[in-house]
Amino acid sequence: MAKTASRQPEQGGGPSRTSLFLVGFMGAGKTSVGQLLARKLRWRFIDLDDRVEAREGRTIAEIFSELGEEAFRTAESAALSELLNELSGGDPAVVALGGGAYVQAHNANAIRASKCKVIFLDAAVDELRRRCEAKGAVRPLFQDQQRFTELYHTRRQHYRKADLHVETTGLSVYAVARQIISLLGIEKR
Ligand code: S3P
Repeated sequence: MAKTASRQPEQGGGPSRTSLFLVGFMGAGKTSVGQLLARKLRWRFIDLDDRVEAREGRTIAEIFSELGEEAFRTAESAALSELLNELSGGDPAVVALGGGAYVQAHNANAIRASKCKVIFLDAAVDELRRRCEAKGAVRPLFQDQQRFTELYHTRRQHYRKADLHVETTGLSVYAVARQIISLLGIEKR
């Protein structure tokens, strides 16, 4: 069950030093919160979409339009599996996943098996849509409103399996990052 209300001390003693995975829908703030969180903790920040683009030598939009969504999902899973190998035993990092990555059962299982912490950044669907419109980043799956809303509702049940659920509606990225640090009881280096 995800935790929302209060600080949850780590089991087994001591604050978290395991990598943090930020999941949630498009516009949830995974990249902006992740970058700030990593800066505050002095941890590395990794964006899985960047890894996919580097691996494929194409932008996300090009992968979708030239190869299709299935090829994108295959590349995304391969990039995630490489990343989990890289993170095992190394310094912790803050990782932002693309909105569909955690929805794939094999990806979610691999992350859970790695014992990294998963944080669901949530927001009202209208706010997510506004943020996506305002940012102007190319998102192949952000097209019509109805599809956006349907996809959000379908995916929420998957995101809710995260260890921690943070509601971000109306909050700044600073407030969200502060809340995560406080809820996880992570010590800054
Ligand atoms: C996707 C979200 C995108 C990116 C790709 C697919 C999705 O990332 O991975 O366009 O399936 O929701 P963001 O969530 O960072 O926009």
